[in-house]
Amino acid sequence: MISPKDFVRDVVRELKPYKPSMEPCKIKLDANENPFDIPLEIKQRIWERVKKEKFNFYYDPNCTELREALSKYTNTSSTNIFVGSGADEIISDIIFAFAGPGRDVIIPVPAFESYEIYSTISGANVIKVPLLPKNELTPWDLDVDLIKSYFKQDKPQLLFLTYPNNPTGNYFSEDKVLELVNNFNGIVAIDEAYYEFGGKTFADRLSKYPNLVVIRTFSKAFSMASGRVGYALGHEDLINQLYKVKLPYNVSLFSQIACTEILRETEWIEEQRKKVIESRTKLKKELDKISGMYVYQSYTNFFLCDFAKSRDQIYEELLDRGILTKKFYGFGLETTLRFAIGSPEQNEILINAFKEITGCKTKN
Ligand SMILES: Cc1ncc(COP(=O)(O)O)c(C=O)c1O
Repeated sequence: MISPKDFVRDVVRELKPYKPSMEPCKIKLDANENPFDIPLEIKQRIWERVKKEKFNFYYDPNCTELREALSKYTNTSSTNIFVGSGADEIISDIIFAFAGPGRDVIIPVPAFESYEIYSTISGANVIKVPLLPKNELTPWDLDVDLIKSYFKQDKPQLLFLTYPNNPTGNYFSEDKVLELVNNFNGIVAIDEAYYEFGGKTFADRLSKYPNLVVIRTFSKAFSMASGRVGYALGHEDLINQLYKVKLPYNVSLFSQIACTEILRETEWIEEQRKKVIESRTKLKKELDKISGMYVYQSYTNFFLCDFAKSRDQIYEELLDRGILTKKFYGFGLETTLRFAIGSPEQNEILINAFKEITGCKTKN
């Protein structure tokens, strides 16, 4: 009997489906979602607009209105902006356009998993370069010399950098990023999915570096993970290459209108951003007092935390209390958990859970 497995591409045969955790839980902190939903008045304004549109026709394939709103928000011309169905699709479009068989994709690890998954599917050669061993002075920084040792002048290459990094939560040194950008003969994709929580960006250097592309998302600071909208900022020549690999009607009517309307809510955006940052400061202060755990500095809406006790046990004990966090494997992450910053009430429950699980000792 014919089996589809006999026809699947080799690189796909070896893959396991990426399965986001769907464990039943009361407090979901595993996917770096924003704990604060969009207020009902804004949802209603979105719906008032959406319901007037024709649902039977394809909606604007160029996301014209949304790109204009993004142009104001990012202070970038709309010809330098490309919109996709989540930052995930932007990442996959960059890989489709610039990677593939016979090409290298260089990824400092640990990093966001999608870079490796889509690069593998594209048939590219994936080069994972470990970050420098973590210590208090330089937590999780780039090993510039090691990364540069993989640079080739005669082969197309793509380099991914996450700024701030996921899952570690820190910024790589700006000088190191610039050293890589200045020495790389290929495309550098800087993923700024968490930009709003830290404020640092490479988007203001795009005119100097035509090989640079910045990736952003509406899923984090804008509380629109369900809408699936991300965007890329880059030189027009680079953006035009992305249009060639784009699916024709990739961003739905609902998503385009919702994100356009959200960008009008400048006061709400600012309030929301401040609320997450304040929660982050308070949560770190409380968690720092608990012995048996070390919380890495974060410029995102999540923390990576190291534990003296078995992290698998801590993961299970949190889950028993209805709190879902995320475990990683490899790259020195076996002793860590990552969890999103929740609402003040959720953070309170998390702090108490950590106190109970680690024996409730507080550091002096
Ligand atoms: C660094 C990074 N890039 C991209 C994404 C994907 O974002 P989106 O929801 O827009 O696909 C995430 C999601 O967690 C992320 O952490």
